[in-house]
Amino acid sequence: MQKQRLEKILKYITEDAPVADIGTDHGYIPIRLAGSGFVSELYACDINSGPLDNARRNALEAGCEKKIKFVLSDGFEKLDLSSIRYLILAGMGGESCCGIMDRAEKKITEDNIFIFQPATKPEVLRYWLLYNSYEILAEDYVKENGKLYQIIVAKLGEPQKYTLSEMYTGTAFGNELYPEILEHFEDMFSKILCSSDESRNPDHKVIQIMYDELKEGMKNG
Ligand SMILES: C[S@@+](CC[C@H](N)C(=O)[O-])C[C@H]1O[C@@H](n2cnc3c(N)ncnc32)[C@H](O)[C@@H]1O
Repeated sequence: MQKQRLEKILKYITEDAPVADIGTDHGYIPIRLAGSGFVSELYACDINSGPLDNARRNALEAGCEKKIKFVLSDGFEKLDLSSIRYLILAGMGGESCCGIMDRAEKKITEDNIFIFQPATKPEVLRYWLLYNSYEILAEDYVKENGKLYQIIVAKLGEPQKYTLSEMYTGTAFGNELYPEILEHFEDMFSKILCSSDESRNPDHKVIQIMYDELKEGMKNG
C-alpha cells in the first residue's frame, strides 16, 4: 500500500493520548500506531461495515487487533469526544469533513486536536474551520504518486486571518512543496479565467484576485 500520505499524519501525534481514525477503511493509521506501541488507546471508525471489516482483517494479520477498538460510526456519532485527544479525518472530501464537524458541534472540546487530510476542497474545510472559531495549528503538504495532499491540524481557539488564495494553498510558506502548491492553484485559476466570460461568471473577479495573489507569492518566493 502507498503510505507516505498517511505516514506524514503520524508526526502530528506527539503524545500517548487516545487517537480515533475516522473513515479508517484499511486501518493503516491505527495499525501503524498499534505496531509502534506509542499510543495505547486506538479507535478505528467507519460508517460502513465493509471497510471496518477490512481494517479488522488487516489488524488481525498484523497481530494488533486487540489493541484497537473498531467502531461502526457516522463521523463522531458513537465516540465520546471528551476522552479522545486526536481525531484523524483523511481521504474524505473537504465538504464531508465539514459535515462531520458540523454534526458534532456540541460534543467537541478544546482538548480535541483534529488532523485533516482532505482528498478534495481544502479551501471549504479551511473556511469552515476559521469561520467556526478553530485555530489552525499546523499545515503541511505531502506528495504521493504525483498528487499533492494537504494536511491541516486544528483545534478550537482563536482563528487566524487568511487571504482568499491562502484558503486554497494553506500557509506552510517554508514547506519544500509550497512552490508546487502555488503552481497547482495558479494553473487551476488560470484555466478558469481563460475559459470563463467575466460578464457571465460572478466568481471571475474573485478568481482574478486569487490568481494575482498567487502570482505575487510566486514572484516573492
Ligand atoms: C477514501 S476512504 C479513506 C481511507 C483512509 N482514511 C485513507 O485516507 O486512506 C474514505 C472512508 O471514509 C468512510 N466514510 C465516509 N463517510 C464517513 C462518515 N461520515 N463517517 C465515517 N466514515 C466515513 C468510507 O466508508 C471510507 O471507508
